[in-house]
Amino acid sequence: MKYAIIGSGAIGTAIARQFARQGLPVQVANTRGPASLQALADELGPSIIPAQLSDALGADMVFLAVPFDAVNAVLKGAPAWNQRIIIDTTNAIDFSDFSPADLGGRPSTHLIAEAAPGARLVKSFNTMFAKVLARKPDDASGRRVLYLSGDDQAANTAVAGLIERFGYAPIDLGPIAQGGLLQQFGGALTTHSMILQRQGGASLPEMDIISEGEQPAAAATPVQIAETFFAHWSNNRIDAALGMLAKDVLYDNVPFPDITGRAEVAKFHRGFGIGTEFLVDWTVTNISAAGNVVLNERVDIFKHAGGGVISLPVMGTLTVENGEITVWRDYFDAADFDRQLAAIKARQPQTSA
Ligand SMILES: NC(=O)c1ccc[n+]([C@@H]2O[C@H](COP(=O)([O-])OP(=O)(O)OC[C@H]3O[C@@H](n4cnc5c(N)ncnc54)[C@H](OP(=O)(O)O)[C@@H]3O)[C@@H](O)[C@H]2O)c1
Repeated sequence: MKYAIIGSGAIGTAIARQFARQGLPVQVANTRGPASLQALADELGPSIIPAQLSDALGADMVFLAVPFDAVNAVLKGAPAWNQRIIIDTTNAIDFSDFSPADLGGRPSTHLIAEAAPGARLVKSFNTMFAKVLARKPDDASGRRVLYLSGDDQAANTAVAGLIERFGYAPIDLGPIAQGGLLQQFGGALTTHSMILQRQGGASLPEMDIISEGEQPAAAATPVQIAETFFAHWSNNRIDAALGMLAKDVLYDNVPFPDITGRAEVAKFHRGFGIGTEFLVDWTVTNISAAGNVVLNERVDIFKHAGGGVISLPVMGTLTVENGEITVWRDYFDAADFDRQLAAIKARQPQTSA
């Protein structure tokens, strides 16, 4: 997955800062060429790649962080979009009195979509001041909320995954005609920065669902816990799924070496691009328990954000103790997986870094 930011002003730099925090490579382009971006790359580190505008416009996910009035000029030189994603961070403003620009009642993101046929537009990163956007999204007070909206659900989910990876709390407001109007300049969300109060946690007491020392409700059988776990995966709620693993979980993904610990398992999945590059949709075809060991058969679907799908039959076991998954074991055909992955990589557009 290749990312690019067009615009290196206040918003472009704030977004570049989030990429740099994650060590995630991103091309950055402006009107003045790569040399003008070297100081930013020196400040933020090697994940910031100064680029020509024409290169950056070929990325799989392109942030538009330019004045609304500059959008047409920027998009004019873009290669075919082929379902690639544009994240619209712009605000359409009438600067004569700093009021919302008169767009004849049309959502500003729809106007941008017209200038980028074949692109999937997601509106986000535009409702708060750049200085606030640039802050570390997750601090002691909680996670900063980033709203998004778009007319293609897979694109929304891909962008939500990236937002989550940055550490913000994504909230999907649905189609542009609905969420876009709330987000765009003059909409109800303009200039607001919201913090999602912590209530999630690694265990039921942490979530305030039960008190410390109390046993989880007897209703949660190992099969029900496993079903909840797979439902999280199937709806691309990666953090929620990973949160059901014991801190010292053993993950035995059989063709690969064992991984110990929830944090390491999360790193493995994030490293592979789960929730960002690949969206997950797993179907459980059989599930039953022998004691606290849940046997399951699944078909794991991984949809690549740039197109293409991996469909993988998997058999596995989950060991459930005290409401947590302590052992997660999966068996699958690694050669089948590699073959499908190679086919996806082969169909991605080649862009220079
Ligand atoms: N600032 C905020 O707090 C804020 C908050 C929410 C949303 N927004 C929205 O975010 C967008 C960006 O705002 P900003 O404050 O970051 O603006 P900015 O500081 O003025 O930066 C604009 C950037 O766009 C680049 N640009 C302009 N025309 C271009 C073109 N034709 N091709 C390539 N790059 C071009 C500029 O390149 P050069 O550097 O070469 O001039 C510059 O890097 C705007 O739509 C704004 O309304 C801003």
